[in-house]
Amino acid sequence: MRAVTWHGKRDVRVENVADPVIEQPTDAIVRMTTTGLCGSDLHLYEVLGPYLTEGDILGHEPMGVVEAVGSDVGDLAVGDRVVVPFQIACGDCFMCDRQLYTQCETTQVRAQGCGAALFGYTKLYGSVPGAQAELLRVPHADFGPIKVPEGPADDRFVYLSDVLPTAWQAVAYAEVPDGGTVAVLGLGPIGDMACRIAAHQGAGRVIGIDRVHERLTRASARGTEVIDMDGADVGDAVRDMTDGRGVDAVIDAVGMEAHGSSIAKLAHQVVSLLPDAVAEPMMDRIGVDRLGALLTAIDIVRRGGTISLSGVYGGQADPLPMMTMFDKQIRLHMGQANVRRWVDDILPLLTDEDPLGVDDFATHRMALHEAPAAYESFQHKKDGMVKVLFRP
Ligand SMILES: NC(=O)c1ccc[n+]([C@@H]2O[C@H](COP(=O)([O-])OP(=O)(O)OC[C@H]3O[C@@H](n4cnc5c(N)ncnc54)[C@H](O)[C@@H]3O)[C@@H](O)[C@H]2O)c1
Ligand SMILES: [Zn+2]
Ligand SMILES: [Zn+2]
Repeated sequence: MRAVTWHGKRDVRVENVADPVIEQPTDAIVRMTTTGLCGSDLHLYEVLGPYLTEGDILGHEPMGVVEAVGSDVGDLAVGDRVVVPFQIACGDCFMCDRQLYTQCETTQVRAQGCGAALFGYTKLYGSVPGAQAELLRVPHADFGPIKVPEGPADDRFVYLSDVLPTAWQAVAYAEVPDGGTVAVLGLGPIGDMACRIAAHQGAGRVIGIDRVHERLTRASARGTEVIDMDGADVGDAVRDMTDGRGVDAVIDAVGMEAHGSSIAKLAHQVVSLLPDAVAEPMMDRIGVDRLGALLTAIDIVRRGGTISLSGVYGGQADPLPMMTMFDKQIRLHMGQANVRRWVDDILPLLTDEDPLGVDDFATHRMALHEAPAAYESFQHKKDGMVKVLFRP
């Protein structure tokens, strides 16, 4: 089959690789009809190289048709139309019972001290072959795949794999008071969708912050008040809009490669030139994070407010303004989205009325062989690219 494989910093290729096969009774093989490109893939493309192996298949936003099943996949059947969550969970352990599927104790990658295995996401998360491919082996298919109805185009449902539950959890963890104000840092797919969900759930004001013109315009067209971070001091602008107080809640939908953190950027450039055996422990120690967005979040949240962090972070050594965080009495809630936890809440919104605007959320639909160009454009935010869906 054809698949998108990683070969080094900013080097992804489309290659012929072996077809996946059923390995466990709970496996299924799904033929991808649509598969997304995520901001998290950009971390693999740029700073997380030391945790990848040449030839790794990328991608974790799968949707398709079940082509084969093992002997123990419950009521999943060949021909079912499914979306597959980006994390692999058993559905039946201590953590899964608590709906903390990203912490599944059956698939946790204990050797790396990490949570549940993820599709296409480095050795930290199990080196599981990813979904930017014609076929995907889905472990624990007795629990993971979400069956969706025939009829509407894939665009209606594909975001259940990642964007929708991630944005939903970001809003849930933000605990915006009724009629309250939430600021969303980053208006990529996750931040844009978080703005839509927060407004839908009754936030009084939603303020979106980014520096990419068409992303600001897109959010503003749906009623979000926007701030261009390049044209303003974000802290002052937010305080001006909130009686000097700051916002009730902040969602960080940027993560570890935020603009505006030059020292960490330099460290990454140095580390990326070293061999993996040296680079990996250095990455663990120096941290891979550029904390610009998180520092902004700490600055603009009001006293006693909440920061919900859905942007992905790694590393551990970047200093945080602990005194300010303590003094402002900030609540912080973060992590990968527990996908199946939110699916039943989201599905009723995926109707013809399309309140969240999923049907025209994608800006680009591309063939799999165009992946190298798609990664390059998405990283540089060229051509108005916000969300890419591949049709393998
Ligand atoms: N928690 C999860 O389960 C989960 C799931 C999917 C994605 N993510 C993470 O969410 C983040 C966003 O994903 P995406 O697909 O929307 O990515 P993206 O790269 O398209 O969006 C990030 C946006 O942040 C903007 N930005 C950069 N620095 C900023 C700053 N200092 N302040 C405000 N905005 C800034 C960029 O211009 C860009 O528009 C990534 O870190 C991704 O890894 C997390
Ligand atoms: Zn993702
Ligand atoms: Zn589990």
